[in-house]
Amino acid sequence: MTQRFEGRIAAVTGAASGLGRATALMLAQEGAKVLLFDRDEAGLAATANQCPGAVTVVGDASSAADVARAEAAARRDLGPVEFLVPAAGILGPAKAAIELEEAEWDRLFAINVKGPWLAARAFIPHMREIGRGSIVLFSSTAGLAGSPLLSAYSASKGAVTMLTRSLALNHAKEHIRVNCVCPGTINGPMAEAMFAQVGDAAARQARAATMLAGIPMNRFGEPEEIAAAVLYFLSDDAGFTTGAALPIDGGRLA
Ligand SMILES: NC(=O)c1ccc[n+]([C@@H]2O[C@H](COP(=O)([O-])OP(=O)(O)OC[C@H]3O[C@@H](n4cnc5c(N)ncnc54)[C@H](O)[C@@H]3O)[C@@H](O)[C@H]2O)c1
Repeated sequence: MTQRFEGRIAAVTGAASGLGRATALMLAQEGAKVLLFDRDEAGLAATANQCPGAVTVVGDASSAADVARAEAAARRDLGPVEFLVPAAGILGPAKAAIELEEAEWDRLFAINVKGPWLAARAFIPHMREIGRGSIVLFSSTAGLAGSPLLSAYSASKGAVTMLTRSLALNHAKEHIRVNCVCPGTINGPMAEAMFAQVGDAAARQARAATMLAGIPMNRFGEPEEIAAAVLYFLSDDAGFTTGAALPIDGGRLA
């Protein structure tokens, strides 16, 4: 195993589950010291148990005060953060955009869009101090193409794609690279939550079959397949890459 991140400091939000957890574990395996943030205290502890020296902060990714606590904890207990992965996100209701309640829309955008913006705003000053940094946001295939089933989610992830590109332009001269991954359907709690909204077991099975039919590789992805791409973007291997939005979707958007 290469140790691209030996002794270097990374912050991961949404680290209690799914893709954030897989990213945190892979970073720790490659030697990074990690600050782990999530609202799920038990899940966070389970991730931290597998990341030697991890620092955990329980909080809401859409709260400026909670993100500021995470920033302060990183500075106090680890040092300035070089790598940021704001992975916390929610799916929201599986319905057409105009069917959403105002509160549902606001919550979706608060967590999925304001969340990564708050994290970037908190940690880019660390990267400026050390003269370099790398950020990987979590967009989605739904952030590159529209989605009739998850239309508000798709709008929020489209915003994440453009936040990525704009941050990349803002900070390129400061040696801070910003990219995003655009996963398709990945096995784990979020995909299960999506299928759970579709209806009974037969409806879920039909939905899964329709989705699989649209994926040339004829399978869903695994969290580690996303984490590996995140680590590539974070690492010096991607030294000339910024503003990229990478579909990781078994060929669905090809
Ligand atoms: N799983 C997929 O198929 C898929 C596909 C495309 C994009 N994504 C994106 O990847 C990211 C990670 O998704 P996942 O599959 O790991 O989902 P997940 O539900 O397994 O994990 C999300 C984590 O974020 C945390 N979280 C949610 N809201 C939070 C908040 N307000 N404050 C703090 N923590 C919060 C949850 O507690 C959870 O630990 C999300 O941004 C998601 O939109 C996932």
